[in-house]
Amino acid sequence: MIKIAFFDTKPYDKDAFEKALANRKNADLEFHYFETKLNKDTVDLAKGFDGVCVFVNDTVDSAVVERLHALGVKLIALRCAGFNNVDRKKAAGKLRIVRVPAYSPYAVAEHAMALLLTSIRRTHKAYIRTKDFNFSLSGLTGFDLHGKTVGVIGTGRIGRVFVDICRGFGMKVLAYDKYPAPDFERENVQYVSLDELFEKSDVISLHCPLAEDSYHIIDEKAIEKCKRGVVIINTSRGALVDAEALLGGIKARKVGAACLDVYEEEGDFFFEDFSGHIVDDDVLARLISMPNVLVTSHQAFLTEEALSNIAETTVQNIVEILQTGTCENELTL
Ligand code: NAI
Repeated sequence: MIKIAFFDTKPYDKDAFEKALANRKNADLEFHYFETKLNKDTVDLAKGFDGVCVFVNDTVDSAVVERLHALGVKLIALRCAGFNNVDRKKAAGKLRIVRVPAYSPYAVAEHAMALLLTSIRRTHKAYIRTKDFNFSLSGLTGFDLHGKTVGVIGTGRIGRVFVDICRGFGMKVLAYDKYPAPDFERENVQYVSLDELFEKSDVISLHCPLAEDSYHIIDEKAIEKCKRGVVIINTSRGALVDAEALLGGIKARKVGAACLDVYEEEGDFFFEDFSGHIVDDDVLARLISMPNVLVTSHQAFLTEEALSNIAETTVQNIVEILQTGTCENELTL
């Protein structure tokens, strides 16, 4: 029997994973669901398990990896694509790591567009007004996306879907990728330098992974280079954007709007209910208080299709790596 401890489990995770498990009756798997996040204080819950299954805000740093190894845990199964929260160097030779590289690029790209449209057409404000029979249009003026320029940073699976959506709106696409794809450029879609993207884009959307070279890719200097009124969308990872610099840009009226599904310090807050509490993070509180900032709490992945694909692939990864010793979704250094 292979025993896996899930961390940071929500009811929708459990539903999807129980369905995936039911499809694999012969796999000899047992799942235990912990609601708490994995970190140095909770890692001992993994005692007696063969593997841990973690999500974006679990902390799998050097100390946690060390302890998991000492407890006899053999596998870290990430039920997400990004892996910036795992110390891969420390895990090398001690624990195997698998992830779900793609589960629905549409879920994330469509959420990015949903945030953009909500933000620039003020539908979130109109919804609240009309619920109160307030039919005034004052302050709801938006702008057309047609003919505007969108800058897309990262042209992988999600970035490409977002580009296609933007083209459907009649937008011109400028893109930047550290590893440009040869088949990417088309009419109205071209690679440019990061500086040119900052200078010419009306909307900028981030779709690259968080790594040393992309940390704070949107910082004070980048914001200085941007057009006045630029809309910044981040559905990738919080630390791609320097949140204090973003706040400064908004206060200076340089940034026209921000659409954030992720936030630098989201681990302390996202996925939990803090209504009725005093939130200690002044930058987050100030950002949320701005009329032109829209925040969702790392929700872009949350579609039925994505949850089902995540669960099916994760179960497949666990079975493959622990029973056969190999898995194409294994992360190596
Ligand atoms: P992908 O691996 O298909 O594409 C990433 C692209 O970024 C690649 O083309 C790569 O060459 C490029 N890239 C790497 N480093 C770069 C840099 N420094 N500057 C510019 N481009 C760079 O990944 P995918 O599936 O498109 O996902 C992108 C990101 O979206 C993930 O890394 C993850 O952080 C985030 N994500 C967020 C979710 C959410 O719920 N908000 C859900 C799933 C993914």
